[in-house]
Amino acid sequence: MNEMPMKVLLIEDNPADARLLHEIFGESVAIDAMITHVESMSEAESYVADHATDLIVLDLGLPDAQGLEAVRRTRTAAPHVPLVVLTCVDDDAIAVRVLREGASDFLVKGQIEPRALLRTMHLALERKAHQEELLEQQRELERSNADLQQFAYAASHDLQEPLRMVISYTQLLAKRYKGKLDSDADEFIDFAVDGASRMQRLIRDLLMYSQVGNAGLILADVSSEHALGEALSNLSDVIEQSGARVTHDPIPIVMADETQLIQLFQNLVGNAIKYQNGGTPLVHVSANKIVDEKWMFSVQDNGLGIDPRYFERIFGMFQRLHGRNEYAGTGIGLAICKKIVERHGGTISVASQPGHGSTFQFTLGESEVE
Ligand SMILES: Nc1ncnc2c1ncn2[C@@H]1O[C@H](COP(=O)(O)OP(=O)(O)O)[C@@H](O)[C@H]1O
Ligand SMILES: [Mg+2]
Repeated sequence: MNEMPMKVLLIEDNPADARLLHEIFGESVAIDAMITHVESMSEAESYVADHATDLIVLDLGLPDAQGLEAVRRTRTAAPHVPLVVLTCVDDDAIAVRVLREGASDFLVKGQIEPRALLRTMHLALERKAHQEELLEQQRELERSNADLQQFAYAASHDLQEPLRMVISYTQLLAKRYKGKLDSDADEFIDFAVDGASRMQRLIRDLLMYSQVGNAGLILADVSSEHALGEALSNLSDVIEQSGARVTHDPIPIVMADETQLIQLFQNLVGNAIKYQNGGTPLVHVSANKIVDEKWMFSVQDNGLGIDPRYFERIFGMFQRLHGRNEYAGTGIGLAICKKIVERHGGTISVASQPGHGSTFQFTLGESEVE
């Protein structure tokens, strides 16, 4: 597998066992190994600190570290080096615990067969290579995600300026020339003004979406009741115009980014008021503790409801179930909600029956002081 000899660190205080392992390695022609032998945990710790090591073989009964503690200390000193543990007895319980602590494999002393040792070593190295590959892929994904975020932010941010100019001048055209040209011209101007302001809303929502992903979360104890109050005051025009009644149960203090929590309530309550059939919107917000340290919030409405076929889709970007002539919108609101909730480590979903209102539910972590 490797052109270079494999660098093995053997941590073993018993001279007889150490000699045996040396011999097994020495006899093996399949693996060209270079063995360094130390007799205590502290020696091992200082050795790995400045020597590249491909594999560690660890005895569990050292003078200065025994059992799982020896495994833990080895993992701390050399977290990325595959570790094979030597156990004295064929004890499954200890074997499982050792593997849980991050060892790649274990060998039972007195039963070490050269071929088994070789296989173990190969497996340990392969597993490590595989892990590194996965890690690299994950880093690559994170990088490309960050690039995309950055791109979305820059694009939406830089588009705002020229767009403002288009809007100002189409508005100016409308103001000066409406009714002074022919009726076609009036209609064209209306289309232009309408298109430009729709684009402005889209860009503003896109910008908000990318900011939710880009900005660092400022987590703190936040009164969700206060956040809801802020959201309602931002929605006060809509509430007044629609005659909506928004009520809530006592809702808890949670660990959250306050700005984003306000945004979340605002989008959900805003939708609950918007997607109605002309009746008085009734919206109710509540929260239940579902498991330790987790709350499930509900925003319930008496609106149009949603066909179960679309439960997933509505959380995607630009996904709308209604034409913009029926209900204004960009289809970004719920995508923002999903991103906010997921950045907080929670989940969001909807339950609904067409014609019988909808309930949007999301989870959030509890505040640490209660
Ligand atoms: N409370 C609700 N009741 C019924 N339909 C809803 C509700 N909330 C969202 N929807 C549907 O999901 C779609 C996506 O919502 P959203 O992402 O907030 O975008 P927007 O409100 O801008 O259209 C909406 O267009 C609407 O069809
Ligand atoms: Mg919306």
